[in-house]
Amino acid sequence: MAISKTIREQMKESSWIRRMFEEGTEMRRKHGADKVFDLSLGNPVLEPPTEFRTELMRIAQDETPGTHRYMPNTGYAETRAAVAKTLAAETGMAFTAGEILMTCGAAGALNVTLRSILDRGDEVVIFAPYFAEYIFYIQHNGGVMKVAQCDSGFQPDVASLAAALTARTRAVIINSPNNPTGVIYPASIIAAIGQAISAAEKTFGTEIYLIADEPYRKLIYSGQEYPFVYKYHQRSIVATSHSKDLGLAGERIGYIAVNPGCPDKSELLEAAVFANRTLGFVNAPAIMQRIVARIQGASVDVDEYRKKRDFLYGALTGIGYECVKPEGAFYMFPKSPLPDDRDFIRLLQSKFVLCVPGVGFGTPGYFRISYCVDDRTLKGCVPGFREAYDEAKTMLP
Ligand SMILES: Cc1ncc(COP(=O)(O)O)c(C=O)c1O
Repeated sequence: MAISKTIREQMKESSWIRRMFEEGTEMRRKHGADKVFDLSLGNPVLEPPTEFRTELMRIAQDETPGTHRYMPNTGYAETRAAVAKTLAAETGMAFTAGEILMTCGAAGALNVTLRSILDRGDEVVIFAPYFAEYIFYIQHNGGVMKVAQCDSGFQPDVASLAAALTARTRAVIINSPNNPTGVIYPASIIAAIGQAISAAEKTFGTEIYLIADEPYRKLIYSGQEYPFVYKYHQRSIVATSHSKDLGLAGERIGYIAVNPGCPDKSELLEAAVFANRTLGFVNAPAIMQRIVARIQGASVDVDEYRKKRDFLYGALTGIGYECVKPEGAFYMFPKSPLPDDRDFIRLLQSKFVLCVPGVGFGTPGYFRISYCVDDRTLKGCVPGFREAYDEAKTMLP
């Protein structure tokens, strides 16, 4: 056997998102790119802001020796200081470079965090619907995934969380704005999550981390204030990136920010630096660190994503789809018109529209649309959605 049994099993279970994306590539090859409307992958369609290009050009001209060498595994001091300064301004909390570790995207940040805190068999609670890669991040780092549920509006069900917390729980991961639903968790829910975790810590005499996975934090359409987790649980860690807010998903730049009030934070940071090195990331990309240090205030034009949300949400609900209105990120998670979401995905595919079944996010009966696509795809997919909806209705008893 060429590969491990574990990886073979994981690959079998592995992401519907990738599967649909690959099928889309094949369909484009066979039928022509203009015939296929691929809404399967969350690949940011907006280009990085002009500030990014300006800084990139500046660095390209910089001949200072050492610019491209190894650095401390935490990342450049100037980058960590710039991130801390921005976070301090946004949260009113005393962030310093000492609480920041630069990482290879949010995925790197999550893996480094989990590696730093998990012993084999420790449990990590996530909420369904969830970002499917969490399963593998948890398993790769020796953890066991436990799933809590959300309510019908896709807000975390705190009673379900409380029931999932045990003496082996080491962490709870939340993700807001959420992939796949686009929902934002209000302060009241995050406060209730913090209380449930603190109660479990007391009951079991343990320490439980609240990890906020926030790559969509700046992609908010409602103008509401974003409730940072730091206020609601001392042992909190943010894992995030500039993949979406600066459109840099391919450049792999993100960071971990540990709550300044977190007990034992120095030891935690030391562990994270060690994990960053020995997981093989070593450090976040040097050029990207130098750039993002100077453009912490910049962002893609979030209004462009809001317009796409408004268009597609209006079109789909006009057809008859039931959907919680997304307030952020660039995903929608409508109810499947057929009982089996995989059947509906295949029906959509027959209309040349590609989406991902809810089963891939731990929530059958729904499907995910990624609307970070160009306007041709956004407008062109609507007839396919209409035909599939009408056909599904004729298939129901
Ligand atoms: C919820 C969530 N977390 C983490 C990631 C990983 O982000 P990054 O590309 O910054 O590693 C993604 C990417 O799509 C995501 O949707």
